[in-house]
Amino acid sequence: MKFTTLSRITAPVIAAALAMPAPYGGHNWHPMAYSPKENLVYIPAMSVPFGYKDDQAYTHQQGKWNVGIDTLATALPDGDAARKAVKAMMKGHLIAWDPVAQKARWTVELPYFWNAGVLATAGDLVFQGSAEGEFAAYNAKDGKKVWSYKTNNGIIAAPSTYSIDGEQYIALMVGYGGAAPLAANFALPDRPRLPGRLIVFKLGGTAKVPEQPLPEKMKIDLTGVTSKGSVTEGFALYHANCAVCHGASVSGTYLPDLKTSPMLLSAENWKSVVIDGARQPMGMISFKEYLTNDQAESIRAYVLSESAKAKAEAAKAK
Ligand code: HEC
Repeated sequence: MKFTTLSRITAPVIAAALAMPAPYGGHNWHPMAYSPKENLVYIPAMSVPFGYKDDQAYTHQQGKWNVGIDTLATALPDGDAARKAVKAMMKGHLIAWDPVAQKARWTVELPYFWNAGVLATAGDLVFQGSAEGEFAAYNAKDGKKVWSYKTNNGIIAAPSTYSIDGEQYIALMVGYGGAAPLAANFALPDRPRLPGRLIVFKLGGTAKVPEQPLPEKMKIDLTGVTSKGSVTEGFALYHANCAVCHGASVSGTYLPDLKTSPMLLSAENWKSVVIDGARQPMGMISFKEYLTNDQAESIRAYVLSESAKAKAEAAKAK
């Protein structure tokens, strides 16, 4: 399908304003629920600020991320302390919204912003899974937590319920992903992507869910590895082309973490993926339409510099 180029939206954008909500919205796709008993809508909500800045040099490029914002304004500050401060601004909530009174009856604050869809039952319970993997039941009237179960993985799907021969079950797809773990993983639990699992609960159930071991983190030795590219140019190109999937300031770990990717070890490896499209079948397209070999190499130089920074941060934390 061929899309025509839309004319640019010319709404006034304040220079690099930190505004809420982020492009994820105050509520994303995660299903909300309604209880006709309580007359409440249960909303998986989030508070995430975002640095909105108009891109003065914006031009539409077919096939690229065309949002017209200055992608440099979305880079993260350096250092663990500054990143923790950004992270502290990002919160998730489960809101019991009264649509008639137009206000929340109760709100549960959650530690991370990207949480799961919601189910409300006739038994006056509200079920929701969370980023850190807790599956909880709340009293639909007042939001008091009445039960919870720790899974080993994050949860984004809404639970569903059904009954067989008069016995009620709650089925939950456990697994994490979506836009936020790609672009803002630094603010979410530090966990690699794991295979999803369907877990089904019933009152008095005794089955045990098998352990799911976490894969080891990849380590690479960058001693003596250098690049002829420009870190400054690479920084700009990275945020314009790569950050949406590999995370602001190379903070993403949901796809292979580029800071510890063996592809970083040589210019040839890097080019084979970024320009020649060696990983195209896995979802990593070739950027040869958009980047020259030298530009791709500058991105490598920038990623090498972020990798060195992360190593120094980790050494400092010890
Ligand atoms: C639309 C999402 C998307 C964008 C944008 C994107 N990538 Fe990727 N990238 C992927 C996916 C998916 C993979 C994982 C492929 C796999 O599983 O082997 C990947 C993998 C890679 C790898 C291989 C890492 C490894 O250790 O196997 C490199 C290198 C890479 N990307 C570099 C880049 C660079 C540089 C840019 C920007 C020019 C970029 N990517 C933009 C989705 C993206």
